[in-house]
Amino acid sequence: MKVCVIGAGYVGLTTSAVIADLGHEVICVDKDEQKICQLQKGFVPIYEPGLTELLQKNKDHLSFSTNVSEGIALSSVIIIAVGTPSLPDGSTDMTFINSVIEDLSSSITSYKTIVIKSTVPPGTNEKILETLAKNINRECFNVVSNPEFLKEGSAVYDMFHPDKTVIGTNTADTKSFKIIKQLYNGLDAPFIETSLTGAEMIKYASNAFLAMKISFINELARICEAFDVDITDVAKGIGTDPRIGNKFLQAGLGYGGSCFPKDVSSLHHSARTKKIKTPILEAVQEINNTQVDEYINKLNTLLPDLPSKKIGVLGIAFKPNTNDIRYSRATTVIEQLGLQGCKIAAYDPIAVLPDFNQPNISQVSTIENALEGADCIVIATDWDEFITLDWQQVKEQMKGNVVVDGRNCLNKEQLEKNGFRYVGVGRG
Ligand code: UGA
Repeated sequence: MKVCVIGAGYVGLTTSAVIADLGHEVICVDKDEQKICQLQKGFVPIYEPGLTELLQKNKDHLSFSTNVSEGIALSSVIIIAVGTPSLPDGSTDMTFINSVIEDLSSSITSYKTIVIKSTVPPGTNEKILETLAKNINRECFNVVSNPEFLKEGSAVYDMFHPDKTVIGTNTADTKSFKIIKQLYNGLDAPFIETSLTGAEMIKYASNAFLAMKISFINELARICEAFDVDITDVAKGIGTDPRIGNKFLQAGLGYGGSCFPKDVSSLHHSARTKKIKTPILEAVQEINNTQVDEYINKLNTLLPDLPSKKIGVLGIAFKPNTNDIRYSRATTVIEQLGLQGCKIAAYDPIAVLPDFNQPNISQVSTIENALEGADCIVIATDWDEFITLDWQQVKEQMKGNVVVDGRNCLNKEQLEKNGFRYVGVGRG
């Protein structure tokens, strides 16, 4: 099949590479000229393990362009994977989607299956269908809602090993299911068929549920701390029950990234438009928004003269295996400690610190530079290279002995044996 993927972010690029690998002819388009120029030269502008290699492997039937109309004209399947960021009131910014719909309205001349992969609020796909039907003959297109469930840092693996493929269609549409099956032929996952809005809701429900698990374990961590119980034992204990599951029960500084924060707030906003109260979604956000403060307060108690201290912060990205810093809890920690006057030396293997315009905050290029003379270190992102540090050596490099494990990823006993004052999240 000839497929046009609109949007060259991590979802669009991963989708393009995997679909090309499945044997389709793919053109990936984006209006960002600089990004497309880099991709045409073989340089992938984001860090996503395995993506560069997969794009390279399929370069003979995968091209990049800024010409959206041409991409649409050349293809029978159009996959929309543009960003849907948050607006200040928590609702979704539809600017990029609306611009694609305009392009589609003026470019469709033969039959197209339009696949919406971008995360859009419930009811959007129906509206897109209505809008397009005003300008294009209804015989010439169908709209399919096909949300993605890729995690940054393992997007390529996730796309090759999906646990389901969700297909939302309009009741009158008898063609699209077959086309989507053909598109993903080669991937082994059950199909879940539903309405257009049903598919949108599955996406929001997935992210909201996972965010809820994280906020639940973080709230429980606060209770565990008060009762001197280790939350990791509790997570292990409840995680063996298959009804609960052991994933997404790692207590820490909270969830970040470009998805959970915006999707929970967008679902909350959508519910409000229908006058539905969402106390669970509100609590999930409240816990997440106060999780970093908990640890800043804790540091203030542990190190009474905090503003005079040097803190080494390990991790800048919102999670390991990505250079993405959107809504990163690590950058929040860095900013807040910086505002208190601490001298911050932040290190991350690939992510880059935003400019906080504070002379006491700097990014250093090695772990050693972050540790050198530090009174305390904070593990803000659970990169493997922090987990496997030689703690005896770390002790020699630091001035103090406080380690705040903001991701509960270290071995508490091992650190204590090495003379550290270990502070985890709800570790008793
Ligand atoms: C998330 C979902 O997991 C994907 O299924 C979804 O497709 C994607 O959003 C999206 O909507 O596009 P992602 O944001 O890449 O993926 O990252 P996650 O691995 O889900 O982690 C999100 C945040 O939760 C990170 O800050 C991570 O550190 C935190 N987290 C995760 C915890 O604090 N504890 C956990 O147990 C798990």
